[in-house]
Amino acid sequence: MFNLEDFDIKLDTDYIGRRFVYGAEVDSTNAVLMNPEYEFNENGTVLLAEKQLKGRGRLGRIWYSSKDFNLTFSILLNDKSLFSKNLTLLVFGAANVVAASIENLFQLRSEVKWPNDILINGKKVAGILLESASHGKKINRLVVGIGINVNQQTFHGDFPIEATSIKNELNQNVERESLLAEVLNIFEEMLNKYKADPAQILKDWRMRCRMIGERIDINDGVKSRYGIFDDVDENGALLLRTEKGIEKIIFGDVSRR
Ligand code: BTN
Repeated sequence: MFNLEDFDIKLDTDYIGRRFVYGAEVDSTNAVLMNPEYEFNENGTVLLAEKQLKGRGRLGRIWYSSKDFNLTFSILLNDKSLFSKNLTLLVFGAANVVAASIENLFQLRSEVKWPNDILINGKKVAGILLESASHGKKINRLVVGIGINVNQQTFHGDFPIEATSIKNELNQNVERESLLAEVLNIFEEMLNKYKADPAQILKDWRMRCRMIGERIDINDGVKSRYGIFDDVDENGALLLRTEKGIEKIIFGDVSRR
């Protein structure tokens, strides 16, 4: 059971997570916060669920997470000053935050994998799913969903990349309350950076991405391409160096060759 007091003592933010909603079971924390008809509309609201019945992953996948073991939560952002910027960079920013939190608390080297994964020892420990809603051309709601495998030890299913948890890599149980507080504390700092100097988010991300310069495969579900991971552009697209030149990739699963 998640201990709200232990979490609250460590939360050191102005607004992220100050409105905190704890749910035993929901369909998807992203889906709840994306729905304007629910009561949660305050900027920075965090919804944590012990169990998601329809956890959403990237590319229409399902996010599986065992009840009570992990962190599955979403952050609602209603701050209009964020919406004019490149939202893809927020995914990179959130991945930096999760990787930094794991390193700060557990001294486990974490790498980011394009576009939204966090890995330890080459295995996936966390993922980010950003969703937004628009009115006309204007974005009016933004939700950053984060799933972190914390204390789960076995993973069943067919994953594009092997799954792990912090416990598996650390060989000891992890206190979820401290980890969530650390993520939210750094997330708020990241948002300030994102508003002031979004390019810095990409610079931080590049420092954490170990695949840049390596030979990779990218599968978009229809076809596979291969080449060298040259860089990411200012919008977060992957630049793949192939025999034909540089190709810009917007989505797909990346793996080392
Ligand atoms: C991915 O790697 O495919 C992204 C996974 C994102 C999962 C989180 S868990 C909390 C939030 N609610 C959801 O339904 N999905 C995100």
